[in-house]
Amino acid sequence: MIPIGGLRRGVADLDRIGHAGRVGAWIASASADLTSIVTPLNHEPDVPPEDSVPSAVHRPVLLDEVIAGLDPKPGAVIVDGTVGAGGHARAIAERVGPSGRVIGLDRDPEMLALAEEATTGLPVTLVNSAYSDLDRVMNDLELDGVDGILLDLGLSSDQLAWSHRGFSFSQDGPLDMRFDPKTRESAADLINDLTAEELADIFFQFGEERHSRKIARRIVEARRVEPITTTARLADLVRKSIPGKWGPIDPATRVFQALRIAVNQELEHLDVTLANLADWLNPGGRAAIISFHSLEDRRVKHSFRNDPQLEVITRKPITATPEEIQINSRARSAKLRVAEKCTRPTDIPSPTQTRT
Ligand SMILES: C[S@@+](CC[C@H](N)C(=O)[O-])C[C@H]1O[C@@H](n2cnc3c(N)ncnc32)[C@H](O)[C@@H]1O
Repeated sequence: MIPIGGLRRGVADLDRIGHAGRVGAWIASASADLTSIVTPLNHEPDVPPEDSVPSAVHRPVLLDEVIAGLDPKPGAVIVDGTVGAGGHARAIAERVGPSGRVIGLDRDPEMLALAEEATTGLPVTLVNSAYSDLDRVMNDLELDGVDGILLDLGLSSDQLAWSHRGFSFSQDGPLDMRFDPKTRESAADLINDLTAEELADIFFQFGEERHSRKIARRIVEARRVEPITTTARLADLVRKSIPGKWGPIDPATRVFQALRIAVNQELEHLDVTLANLADWLNPGGRAAIISFHSLEDRRVKHSFRNDPQLEVITRKPITATPEEIQINSRARSAKLRVAEKCTRPTDIPSPTQTRT
């Protein structure tokens, strides 16, 4: 099997850091995902009862562009690392046909239930796992390499719409935000346990929130009276911290994005995966990654450019057409980048050669 790279080991080491009351303490919760045993959905269903599973509202973004970029051939084995409601997986499975296979991963068992509905009858294997744990999944499925890997980062419209998951500030719910219910710390844990400095750092680094310190101070004052446990209370505190009138974007947007990234350690999962991606691909295999903010896109761009085993297919990121944005506003900030694993050792550029 593929050796576990340095970065991967680096993140696994965070497992041993306890909640020491410092920024970075929340990083420790990644261990639950990075070391969890892969559970094929068909064997151990960890999903709500069937009658409580709502139908998907999520529309796959850049669907035609993803298919063109991955170019899945009949018989190919493709990993959809963020299978979500199964929109991309379904289209890919139709192309690889009965002799091929799509391996669909998601940290969220509720999303896997939707993916199962969407891909019934197609050659799709669903696994409750983080995409950063792909080498473990490949080991379990006895695969040495795959022909394509898709990541459609962030959260789905379904997760946002489910108030019980606590991702949305426009409806009240428990302040949770965990993709994987087994993750140790929820958004409420971070909001009530971290120091004002740690909270401000999260809001600034992951949400680029200019008023991060002011918001963090107000949160710390408010939680002295009563713990903050709901999305509505947090959104209200954030809005009250912003001076003057706000523009078209609700001030809670950036804080909620930052918290979600921190709770789910989204950038750590991405970094681990980017460091191992080329090793997981067969020669000629392709990786397609859709990102939704600059923290993600910057990482993908640099990793694709600097990995000597990869050739960049998309010089510039592919974005959605005005027609797609009109029917799916989520597509507005989507950026797709594609890279291909070099087929022969001689294809690998030397370190002195300029890469695109
Ligand atoms: C934007 S949605 C994907 C939508 C999907 N492409 C579709 O067509 O329905 C992102 C999904 O990735 C999942 N996710 C986020 N981080 C993950 C990770 N590190 N590993 C696996 N799944 C993850 C989320 O739970 C969510 O269901």
